Amino acid sequence: MASPLLTVDHLTFGFHDRQLYSDLSFNLARGSMTSLIGANGVGKTTLIRLLMGQLTPQSGHITHAPDMRLGYVPQFRNIDPEYPLSLRSFIQLNQRGHWFPWHTQAEKQQLDAVIRKTALTARQGQLLGKASGGEKQKAYLAQALLTEPNFLILDEATASLDVNTKTELMTLVRQLSQQFGLTVLFVTHDLELAREYTDQYLLLTATGHELRSTQLMEPANMPAELRPAEEVR
Ligand SMILES: Nc1ncnc2c1ncn2[C@@H]1O[C@H](COP(=O)(O)OP(=O)(O)OP(=O)(O)O)[C@@H](O)[C@H]1O
Ligand SMILES: [Mg+2]
Repeated sequence: MASPLLTVDHLTFGFHDRQLYSDLSFNLARGSMTSLIGANGVGKTTLIRLLMGQLTPQSGHITHAPDMRLGYVPQFRNIDPEYPLSLRSFIQLNQRGHWFPWHTQAEKQQLDAVIRKTALTARQGQLLGKASGGEKQKAYLAQALLTEPNFLILDEATASLDVNTKTELMTLVRQLSQQFGLTVLFVTHDLELAREYTDQYLLLTATGHELRSTQLMEPANMPAELRPAEEVR
């Protein structure tokens, strides 16, 4: 079997008096799609920051394949409505291969391709500040894809999107995974989406973690905070 893209081995980490993980181990196979789920504050974003090398494990190891290229799609944030860049120019900010202020023909073609893939061609001239939540989220995804990652981390990228836009975004991500072997780690509170679009889930809880196939996901056994409201009532 091919070696995993990422391996987390006996990871321990916490802030001050608050321990988040005491013995976290898992690996992500190349081309796999994994949901990272757990209640608010359990440590999902912190784990991502560890995986991205922004934080250092207190003990244990995080190892990635030498050819790993990371793309990161942050959670949708409020952008100033006066933000002056168009969607196209915003996406292009991630294209910095050289010192010149202009872009080569090849770069323009690459940018066009990413804009097409994320279905933003008709909207590329729209000001980012005035764009809809779905358009903004797609622009973030396009920005991440511009560097041709083989590992894509999405932190609650679908949280504020309507059902159609969520489906569109996840369908595209899955397609990239199937076509190009993109490995995906998808932070979500949406169990349905996790079940539908990812192969396995990593559940973090205050007392431990589990990594299982989404086919074995039993909503009734999931933490109450993650279940749809009507089931909890
Ligand atoms: N830089 C920091 N210093 C101190 N505590 C922090 C820091 N960053 C996060 N924390 C704390 O660590 C815990 C985990 O935070 P984290 O953001 O990883 O949670 P999360 O699982 O992503 O939650 P959410 O679902 O709300 O996004 C929280 O209690 C948070 O307050
Ligand atoms: Mg978070």
